[in-house]
Amino acid sequence: MPVSIAGRACRLRQWFGSDAEALVPLANDPYIARYLSHVFPQPYTRADADRWIREQGNAETIAQFAIEVDGELAGGIGFLLGKGERIGTASLGYWLGKRFWGRGVMSEAVKVATQWAFDTLRVRRVWANVMEPNVGSSRVLEKAGFRLEAKMTAAICDRRGMIHDEYIFARMRPS
Ligand SMILES: CC(C)(COP(=O)(O)OP(=O)(O)OC[C@H]1O[C@@H](n2cnc3c(N)ncnc32)[C@H](O)[C@@H]1OP(=O)(O)O)[C@@H](O)C(=O)NCCC(=O)NCCS
Repeated sequence: MPVSIAGRACRLRQWFGSDAEALVPLANDPYIARYLSHVFPQPYTRADADRWIREQGNAETIAQFAIEVDGELAGGIGFLLGKGERIGTASLGYWLGKRFWGRGVMSEAVKVATQWAFDTLRVRRVWANVMEPNVGSSRVLEKAGFRLEAKMTAAICDRRGMIHDEYIFARMRPS
């Protein structure tokens, strides 16, 4: 069943094999990777794009989405579902190609994706971690109704090897 979540500034949809070509130049950018988890490949190759899209095609639950702006691939957003003692929770991650920054796209994408996670995945808690200098990302979460829950001192390291405080943001499903 195809998934498509419409917003005003963007649309979220499943990943397709045909995204690989556009994904590589968009994701192959140290400015995007700088404050992302080190599992996001950098440099980002065609093999990385193909692997990512293949993994999404094989996923038990669709929880990763391509972000489209005006019909063009612009980035990615998605959830990792908590297992075992973390059942009922999901962690949120997202990134946008640089030329799409500063237009309110991610503020909207995080809002609609989180609502989707509450409605469809039925998780009670969505959370995200942010490296302290990534002010734009903290702002995106605040605008989407996430609350800063914790600051972990010197807990995380960016791609350039710089150590940062880590912020934990979360939003609960309204009861
Ligand atoms: C962080 C990121 C997702 C922001 O996406 P975006 O679509 O440009 O954000 P928006 O346009 O919705 O802006 C949201 C708010 O953050 C502010 N903002 C965005 N980037 C900012 C920056 N670098 N510094 C300060 N404020 C910033 C905007 O002004 C806006 O606030 P306002 O409405 O009060 O003016 C995007 O820059 C990105 O993909 N970065 C690389 C990947 C990444 O770091 N992902 C998050 C990992 S936790």
